[in-house]
Amino acid sequence: MGDNFLASKRSLPVLGVGLGLRSEIAGETFANSESIDWLEFTPENYLGFGGLTRSRLEAAAAAFPLASHGVSLSVGGTDPLDMTYLKSLKELLDRFDVPWWSDHLCFSSANGRSTHDLLPLPWTKEAVDHIVLRARQVQEFVGRPFLLENISFYMEMPCAQMSEAQFFAEILEKADCGMLLDVNNVYVNSVNHGFDPVEYLKQLPLERVVQIHVAGHLVHDRQIIDTHGASIVEPVYQLLADVLKRVKVKAILLERDQNFPAFDELLAELATIRKIADETSLIGQSVELPQACPPVEIAVGRAKRQRSKKKTSSATKREIPLKELESEFCDLLLDRKKQARHFGRRKGSAAGPIRPAWLRALVDGQGAATYIWLLNSNQENLVGNLYPLCRNILGRSWHRVVDDYFVHFPPGNLNFRDFGENLAQYFVSAGRQWTKTYPFLPALAQFEWAKVLVNDSPVESALTETIAFTSREQLSSFRPLVNPILLLRHFDYPVHEIARQLGNSCCQVPQVVPEETILAIYRELPGLQTRVCQLSPVGASLITRAQQGTSSYMELLESAGEKLGAADGNPFLVMLELLDTLRQLGVLVGSEPIGRTISATA
Ligand SMILES: [Fe+2]
Repeated sequence: MGDNFLASKRSLPVLGVGLGLRSEIAGETFANSESIDWLEFTPENYLGFGGLTRSRLEAAAAAFPLASHGVSLSVGGTDPLDMTYLKSLKELLDRFDVPWWSDHLCFSSANGRSTHDLLPLPWTKEAVDHIVLRARQVQEFVGRPFLLENISFYMEMPCAQMSEAQFFAEILEKADCGMLLDVNNVYVNSVNHGFDPVEYLKQLPLERVVQIHVAGHLVHDRQIIDTHGASIVEPVYQLLADVLKRVKVKAILLERDQNFPAFDELLAELATIRKIADETSLIGQSVELPQACPPVEIAVGRAKRQRSKKKTSSATKREIPLKELESEFCDLLLDRKKQARHFGRRKGSAAGPIRPAWLRALVDGQGAATYIWLLNSNQENLVGNLYPLCRNILGRSWHRVVDDYFVHFPPGNLNFRDFGENLAQYFVSAGRQWTKTYPFLPALAQFEWAKVLVNDSPVESALTETIAFTSREQLSSFRPLVNPILLLRHFDYPVHEIARQLGNSCCQVPQVVPEETILAIYRELPGLQTRVCQLSPVGASLITRAQQGTSSYMELLESAGEKLGAADGNPFLVMLELLDTLRQLGVLVGSEPIGRTISATA
């Protein structure tokens, strides 16, 4: 056991009542800074990203204190710690000098495949030892106070040797780290698994709580699902007050990640949280609280879970190694063919028995199905956010598209964004049922993906000096600089026209015919907006050659001029005009002496 963390907690700053930094509400968040003490950001949304995304975080840091809340550490996972991620994370946290960072007590990946979900751990001694070691490692590597958050869980893993509260408490104390207590998660679990949340809190080392999360949830299919997409309910406020009566914390955060209401509603929730904080922890007065939360009535779901518990206990007499358990469970969540076999079996299919036997208990319970549903919903939203035009066109079929896409291109990358990188390829190779109706879908997906890459590009650049050419010598001794955040793409449909039509009407499917189209997709400099510019074949070849960085203006003009026909007029003048247009559009961003390139290369 260690108590260094408790000593260091005293010197941590009081951040107050804050809100999560979300792109959907960033403008209103910044405009209401007098009502919001601090912001929490998700580092995975910013690591490796530039453009508007990164500028949002920079703007937040200029206006608010920040703390980091990660989602992909997988501290309970048995894959090696992702040191590339941790190194980038450390750099980001150092850049913004956050007072602490947090992640979840869960696992997310196995065998190099990420579920991008927060999965429950088995409450075993093996898991405690494993997590304590890793929590100590990451805390030391990052060099800042580390908090672990309690997750919402929708099933209990087999082979438990202790309660969840005992498991959490033992890890916090042995790893000597801090706690991020999510009171909504406590409430959600107490309802779904039928325990008293107040009694649960008594088993935790609340003195280690640095930060509290408060959020809303959703009742779905006889369970409560932790969505961060609804208003906070009264019992959660009561739990918050109960905790604050017992311990002083440094920060409270309203988590709202989707289904955003009018911002005034969020401000009202923040005000309620602040009132509770002032009446309890900060002022030290107590408030009248019920002894326990009101009983919750989701009786059908609870009865079903109790039945499944019996099956779990009979099927799990042997101790299951942590690695085996996590691998099998991840496989079940990610392998859609396996899901069809296992869940088809429940509907009377002729598939063989589920192996290993303990997995059958999970499949028969409601929990695994809930995780699969959550995973699929998250993936559908993530891919939909990358491809808003394709989603718009496919409408109600979108979830089937994403479902089939992941059958052919299973996700396995740690980066959320990379989930979607193969959609155009999917439409070409396996998505014939969609392209029969909308043959332009591969081109449109390719276009949208190029815009994503340009939007988020971490490349930093600026305009350089533009020279006015007065002699042929100058044209021979300078070369143009192409915008470094520019992608040149060839399409077999006028996708920019499709995008324009969809922008004008969200319901009408565009009427277009195939047409070879070359587009430059780039980020304007200075500025952060993504622009699209249609190019002629001559213009495209000029840009391609200029991107190689070895040709002078004169060489480019002569080369491109040769491609022009006699009817185009004076090729030299035409090309000079084209260069000027490309400069005005921001496709070309400056000039550089040829010699500088040579010396830099040498
Ligand atoms: Fe949370």
